[in-house]
Amino acid sequence: MMKKVLIGAGLVIAALVGIYICICLGTEITVKGGDVSIEAGEDYEDLGYEVTLFGKRQDVSVDFDDNVDSTVPGKYVIEYTIRWNPLKKAEKVVEVRPNCDPEASGGTFIKGIILVNGKHPVSKDYAPGVNKIAEKALHQLQAAAKKQGMKLPLQDGFRSYETQKKLHRFWLETTDEVQGNMYSAVEGHSEHQTGLAFDVGLADPVFAGWPEAKWLEKNAHKFGFIIRYPKGKEEITGYAYEPWHIRYVGTTIAGEIYAEGQTLEEYLGDI
Ligand code: DAL
Ligand code: ZN
Repeated sequence: MMKKVLIGAGLVIAALVGIYICICLGTEITVKGGDVSIEAGEDYEDLGYEVTLFGKRQDVSVDFDDNVDSTVPGKYVIEYTIRWNPLKKAEKVVEVRPNCDPEASGGTFIKGIILVNGKHPVSKDYAPGVNKIAEKALHQLQAAAKKQGMKLPLQDGFRSYETQKKLHRFWLETTDEVQGNMYSAVEGHSEHQTGLAFDVGLADPVFAGWPEAKWLEKNAHKFGFIIRYPKGKEEITGYAYEPWHIRYVGTTIAGEIYAEGQTLEEYLGDI
């Protein structure tokens, strides 16, 4: 009798194990839309996943960790795992590209961010125009400022090498060499040539005393911008305090730089 029961139980267990293996082998998990490549700050729609059992859609529990920060360049791997079936996994790679083309710009990239200053130029031929992601963020910033009664009109954005050259000469001719170089970058060395920098409000030192400048200083990071040439950091940036010059870096990095009171040079460890 005991033997029969044991054989019976053994058969049931074997059948259950067989069914489980069969289900495991027949299950497929696919990530909808496949891998994704976006520019930092661009929105992407995660189309999710689908689990099928022998071709039929199943509603089952899937674990995944959406660790993508779409404002910070890098490669993010999202792993999808079926909870009851560790044999079947799927991956989706989300590549967040830098806001400037590393090859075309000829610039210096650290942590996927282009650093342009007196030490680090961009190539003479690099003329990407205004960056669309940064421009969209700028419009959002301006709209938010307007809601609070602040006007932050755009004074200047993308500049070509030639435009920067003329502007720099103008500064040298109308002021002196020291002041000209404090407020204006030598051609090839201006962030404006990346299409990621904007002058808003009023490009004049008096702007520092305006409520708009205070608002910008407190809020720019929420839209992915930093005050690129802060007060007291002239030695590090190489330029005078420019409360009107904002640079797009994405919300995460801008938030960190704001919280730490850093310059881009400090954040990127290149002083
Ligand atoms: N005013 C900044 C430094 C530029 O010319 O790019
Ligand atoms: Zn500027």
